[in-house]
Amino acid sequence: MKVLVTGGTGYIGSHTCVELIEAGHEPIVLDNLCNSNPESLHRVAQITGCDTIPFIEGDVCDENVLHEVFRKHPDIKCVIHFAGLKAVGESVSMPLQYYRNNLLSTMSLCRVMQQYGVKKIIFSSSATVYSGDNEMPLRESSKTGNCTNPYGWTKYMCEQILRDIAKADPEWSVVLLRYFNPVGAHKSGLIGEHPNGIPNNLMPFISQTAIGKREKLSVFGNDYDTHDGTGVRDYIHVVDLARGHVAAANYMMDHPGESVFNLGTGTGYSVLDMVTAFEQANGVNVPYVIAPRRDGDLATCYADPAKSRQELGWEAQFNQVDMCRDAWNWQSKNPNGYDA
Ligand code: NAD
Ligand code: UD1
Repeated sequence: MKVLVTGGTGYIGSHTCVELIEAGHEPIVLDNLCNSNPESLHRVAQITGCDTIPFIEGDVCDENVLHEVFRKHPDIKCVIHFAGLKAVGESVSMPLQYYRNNLLSTMSLCRVMQQYGVKKIIFSSSATVYSGDNEMPLRESSKTGNCTNPYGWTKYMCEQILRDIAKADPEWSVVLLRYFNPVGAHKSGLIGEHPNGIPNNLMPFISQTAIGKREKLSVFGNDYDTHDGTGVRDYIHVVDLARGHVAAANYMMDHPGESVFNLGTGTGYSVLDMVTAFEQANGVNVPYVIAPRRDGDLATCYADPAKSRQELGWEAQFNQVDMCRDAWNWQSKNPNGYDA
């Protein structure tokens, strides 16, 4: 089946293209390259043995571009919408840019999809939509809202927009996937995460410290109510996450309406657990210092993945060692990401 993948040159999108192709689907990628490099798609082709991956460089907010894509590919069956801005700190300093890009892209996309009768969409949401006062593990029915930054609100609002679209027209099928903490890379080491500038997230920071690009990791707080005082998260291998999208695409074909699924493993690891696992899996050193807590951070956040297992038939396969090994394989083979 032909699948339009917005944001498909990015970190999760490129891994999802690999898994779509390996499951026999045909991804068509639309991306404006604001946070990615088209080289990722050459690598996807290399991994999968495809000649090329159809790619359109353009902005999902631009309805003219979207018309062009759907006219050129009248047999698109569904859309996976990864395109979005995702840096939490940046969203606090540039809220308008985040609201505009993330909301307008989703609304423009759905408007044009509707005109071409394509009414199946998978949306990249985040565990960040859950309210901070829930008990763990987080279930899809846990309370949402009280987001701590504009990025989180854009995910919350897009979920609401998509839910309303599905309510208004029973032909729509909307799957909201709430990702926990995607890490790691494809085992080939050909594709992976390439953050711009100083990484905000833990795993890329650990990898860049191990390779010597950063002097040391700052561990944000060691006085949380967790087993070692550092923050606990549900890290999930990006290939598992990508496979969750293939499962969701299949599910969507005979499940109209709105559905929401957690994509996590159900296991939480602390910052120091991840540092130790990374050092042991790869035989490297990750120097660190304890720093003050980061604003907006929770002590603990992990998923209950039971609903995904039961309804999507999907479950994470990779463990913490796999995540650390594959993250390092990518980092050490591509110290500058996709830049030559
Ligand atoms: P990424 O930045 O690597 O990929 C996003 C892609 O979207 C990039 O290639 C970027 O160029 C593109 N893009 C952004 N705005 C666009 C627009 N208006 N038109 C066309 N292309 C546009 O990020 P990722 O980590 O692969 O994340 C993919 C999605 O998953 C995002 O929506 C993100 O918010 C969401 N998400 C990511 C994480 C995470 O930890 N990586 C966690 C939860 C949710
Ligand atoms: C963050 C975002 C979340 C987003 C997710 C994926 C915040 C508050 N939340 O989640 O909205 O969906 O990324 O992009 O930014 N840590 C360190 N040192 C570092 C970096 C991180 O100690 O240099 C710690 C954090 O305090 C946290 C854990 O590592 O305990 C994971 O952090 P991170 O990778 O940024 O993910 P989240 O905070 O879970």
